[in-house]
Amino acid sequence: MAKTQKKRKKEIETKKKKKKKNEEEEMEMQAQGARVGQEVEALRRVGVSDSVGIDLVPCPPLVIKGDFHNQPFDNDTFDFEFSNVFDHALYPHKFVAEIERTLKPDGVSVLHVALSGRPDKYSANDLFSVKPLVEMFKASKLVHIRKVDGFGLDTEVVFRKKKISKPISS
Ligand SMILES: C[S@@+](CC[C@H](N)C(=O)[O-])C[C@H]1O[C@@H](n2cnc3c(N)ncnc32)[C@H](O)[C@@H]1O
Repeated sequence: MAKTQKKRKKEIETKKKKKKKNEEEEMEMQAQGARVGQEVEALRRVGVSDSVGIDLVPCPPLVIKGDFHNQPFDNDTFDFEFSNVFDHALYPHKFVAEIERTLKPDGVSVLHVALSGRPDKYSANDLFSVKPLVEMFKASKLVHIRKVDGFGLDTEVVFRKKKISKPISS
């Protein structure tokens, strides 16, 4: 390969890398019930620098104080939300409504839940099938369900918020 061609190829590759890095950096991610922020740190390490967690007990700088039933964020803020604390929700409908409110249209939410018993002694609700969860996500489409092995959580459920949300009737 001629020297100029090699140089050009390298320039294109560098541009592609920069573009990918910018796209990753522009992504906004949030985790509910993040405790010390392990999931936030993991996302930051792979390039999603605008990641933040909320918890009743803050753990700066990764986790700020917030109740997941009344998230301290504006509508349509995040591209991605992760939660492995659905079982801690005292008001599951409110928990889900807040995820859908703060996700941008087309944003993705990933939930790790337990269908085979309570993951810990602080669980506030029991989920025996994904059906009620899917019904709560009124403004989203179900993307996939798969089995996972996540510290007592056995199922991953992924939703994508619809681009044009219909008004949610109560
Ligand atoms: C099992 S821990 C999850 C820890 C973390 N997601 C992880 O994987 O390491 C549950 C967390 O949910 C938090 N939590 C419980 N109710 C909450 C609420 N209403 N709003 C925000 N966080 C809450 C608790 O303070 C606790 O840190």
